[in-house]
Amino acid sequence: MNSSVIPVAIIDPDAPTGSLEKKQPDVNNGVEVHSKEGYFSKDYAELEWENLWSKTWLIAGVQADLPNIGDYFLFKIRHESFIISHTQEGIRAFYNVCPHRGARLLTEEHGNRKVFICPFHSWSFSNNGDLRSITDENTFQPEVVCHRPGLKQARVEVLAGLIFINMDEHAPSLKDEIGLPEGYLENYRIDQMKVVRHVRSEWGSNWKVGVEAFYESYHLHAVHPETRGVMADLHVQYDLYPKGASRMIVPLGQPSPRHHDQQTVNEGLQMMLAEAGVDPSAFEGTAVDVRKAIQKGKRERSDRLGLEYERFTDGQLSDSWATGIFPNVQIGCHPEAVFLMRFIPHDTDPGRFWYDTMTLMFPVEDPNYCPPAWMGLPEGTDFTGNTRPETESYLIDEDPGLGLVLSQDAAFLPSVQEGMRSKAFDGQLWGEQEQRLRHFHVELERRLNLRE
Ligand code: FES
Ligand SMILES: [Fe+2]
Repeated sequence: MNSSVIPVAIIDPDAPTGSLEKKQPDVNNGVEVHSKEGYFSKDYAELEWENLWSKTWLIAGVQADLPNIGDYFLFKIRHESFIISHTQEGIRAFYNVCPHRGARLLTEEHGNRKVFICPFHSWSFSNNGDLRSITDENTFQPEVVCHRPGLKQARVEVLAGLIFINMDEHAPSLKDEIGLPEGYLENYRIDQMKVVRHVRSEWGSNWKVGVEAFYESYHLHAVHPETRGVMADLHVQYDLYPKGASRMIVPLGQPSPRHHDQQTVNEGLQMMLAEAGVDPSAFEGTAVDVRKAIQKGKRERSDRLGLEYERFTDGQLSDSWATGIFPNVQIGCHPEAVFLMRFIPHDTDPGRFWYDTMTLMFPVEDPNYCPPAWMGLPEGTDFTGNTRPETESYLIDEDPGLGLVLSQDAAFLPSVQEGMRSKAFDGQLWGEQEQRLRHFHVELERRLNLRE
């Protein structure tokens, strides 16, 4: 990097080498302008299907959704649908296709089945994929069915409560592909969390425009000006990991350096203090002291309630560790909860994608519990983990009720998609606050065999 480029922030300059918070070494991903074709072209979307989606580890869902044997959920990506099934032998992923005439076996998104019965001619399969029965089998020539056709499987690996699948039987293991240091995700104990909200909404841009918008904090001041009082958008630490993984640490509870008022403990900061158990009316510091006070408040509460926050740094108690797993995931990691986002390509239209979000948290029994504002949970959310909420699904013109910040993104991104298509636009010009975007595209092009 040219030494005159303004360096981006380091959250804790004293973080020990090898620690999760330590700023990663710079990666030289060059300065070139990448082709914009991939945002509009159906051929490019097919190339992505062949070389990316069909060959990479994808988060199909979470272990929290399969607590009992027989539990399953469906995971759909473009024209493929998978049954992720908790069998006697563990978690398996089956193509949701009947080997008889190709009917979809299951259509309900979640459920518990020991046996899958095809709705077309009632062939049945055990939930471990074996064929159980063929209706009127004596009417088939034996050669047609003597191989006892069962359900085809994709590979499955479970890491930190996240269920990954891979359609490529020759792909390297997840451990070799995920790029994040061992223990990074495990530390959050997502396997002990419950899904409290799951929303899937259709957005009007290519999936990569979605990933890009969530991989930088450079647009916050312009698109989300109300975050200025509570997010230090210019003090973000960007980290690049192998295999296209990356992270940004966004300090919360601290005004943006762009904000005119660094003194007043504004309403947003007051709310954050209260969430951390600090009485805002008794707080004597200024706005810039709030982040530390949040950390202290949470540390004390953890010691009192045995929440085991010893495994987190002070920074982790206040900040958002927005963690990207290539190709299409970002997880907002917090000690109490995680926000799992997946950017899922549209079946046919490169100009659309599915923004799929799950909020997972440790169950809370207290009926007066008030969740942190960043979680954006509607009133009436069940925090006990006793009931898995229905997945809410919204088409492009419907309001998914994701809260102000996300609806600002949903409303804005189609104009980026359209503007990039103009013949006057030559390709994106990324700064160092957008280094995760360049890192993502270098990995994408490598996977698509467009570069070494
Ligand atoms: S297609 Fe499934 S039983 Fe005929
Ligand atoms: Fe945004």
